[in-house]
Amino acid sequence: GSKSKVTVVGSGNWGSVAAKLIASNTLKLNSFHDEVRMWVFEETLQTGEKLTDVINKTNENVKYLPGIKLGKNVIADPDLDNAVKDANMLVFVTPHQFMEGICKRLVGKVREDVEAISLIKGMEVKMEGPCMISNLISEQLGINCSVLMGANIANEIAVEKFSEATVGYRDNREIAEQWVKLFSTPYFMVTPVQDVEGVELCGTLKNIVAIAAGFVDGLDMGNNTKAAIMRIGLREMRAFSKLLFSSVRDGTFFESCGVADTFYLRKLIYFGSKTITFVAVGGRNRKVAEAFARNGGKRSFDDLEAEMLQGQKLQGVSTAREVYEVLSHRGWLELFPLFATVHEICVGRLPPSAIVEYSEKKPRLS
Ligand code: NAD
Ligand code: 13P
Repeated sequence: GSKSKVTVVGSGNWGSVAAKLIASNTLKLNSFHDEVRMWVFEETLQTGEKLTDVINKTNENVKYLPGIKLGKNVIADPDLDNAVKDANMLVFVTPHQFMEGICKRLVGKVREDVEAISLIKGMEVKMEGPCMISNLISEQLGINCSVLMGANIANEIAVEKFSEATVGYRDNREIAEQWVKLFSTPYFMVTPVQDVEGVELCGTLKNIVAIAAGFVDGLDMGNNTKAAIMRIGLREMRAFSKLLFSSVRDGTFFESCGVADTFYLRKLIYFGSKTITFVAVGGRNRKVAEAFARNGGKRSFDDLEAEMLQGQKLQGVSTAREVYEVLSHRGWLELFPLFATVHEICVGRLPPSAIVEYSEKKPRLS
């Protein structure tokens, strides 16, 4: 049969790594065209050059993934319509806040039979209620959309350190197998699970837990507190997901997208009475939240994001706000003290230390 053409919509830190992973596979697999198109939100670098030109010249995304060759078959394209028009498989991987606009621009521009996958952690909250990004893509474009989530710090996968990921699919196992084939490498092990909502909610809600974990780090609370906060966070992840979608499976939380993605422990090593702290690699939400707490909440997240991430985007702060909206709207605030507290700290209504003032707020969840 004919070969599938793959386009990656997005070219940030994870988008670039996704293109690299996929491009290494399309070269090897006969069922795919070698070339992988990558849509770039065009910008002019400090040197005056266009990012797209530099990527195509050097084969590197010098701004969002410096030092890593993407593969010669990755072609950067600043024209969104052109990048998607012939694609049979679309990989969406931009910060979630841009997806509504991107979807609007794509209406009527993609093949009717195109298959999509979202690597995006986040949700939109509308009048009718929360809408997951894969659902936004499905509904706006009238296409099927799977998801891929996991404990996947992009910079580590870029240097080919082993990790796992979970593909969530709706009902077509063959399509899931296609995505697994397209992403799997010896250092990237992908498992399909028939639970789109569960997988996507895991990836999305984990970013709120990562913010909470960062607060604990910034307060120097230590390992036990961190573990407690992550356990409580995981429990709220499961409870929230199941309240929103009764189809969500418990097993999903034991996949890479669930429990593994919340395990970003900062290393604390004890030498006698002294604690030596290693700055954790990766995990931008955790890292910026740590800085926020160290500053006693006096510098805003926007400020810290701009300074620490140089154009990369945090998802956890806006996700906490979006989830808070859902919680207050549905009268669930008291059921989710951790999620609610993270938002209240982010907006300055509570101090960072509120993250561990827990005993009086224990929720009555099973
Ligand atoms: P990023 O954080 O590097 O964001 C920068 C990207 O956003 C750049 O490509 C930039 O051009 C683009 N951008 C800026 N303004 C824009 C606009 N107005 N319209 C469209 N694009 C714009 O992006 P990322 O790391 O690739 O993250 C994308 C998604 O992947 C997020 O949902 C994130 O949670 C998820 N994710 C990231 C990682 C990671 O380690 N980076 C891992 C797993 C999942
Ligand atoms: P950050 O966006 O916090 O860096 O997390 C990346 C991620 O989702 C890893 O799985």
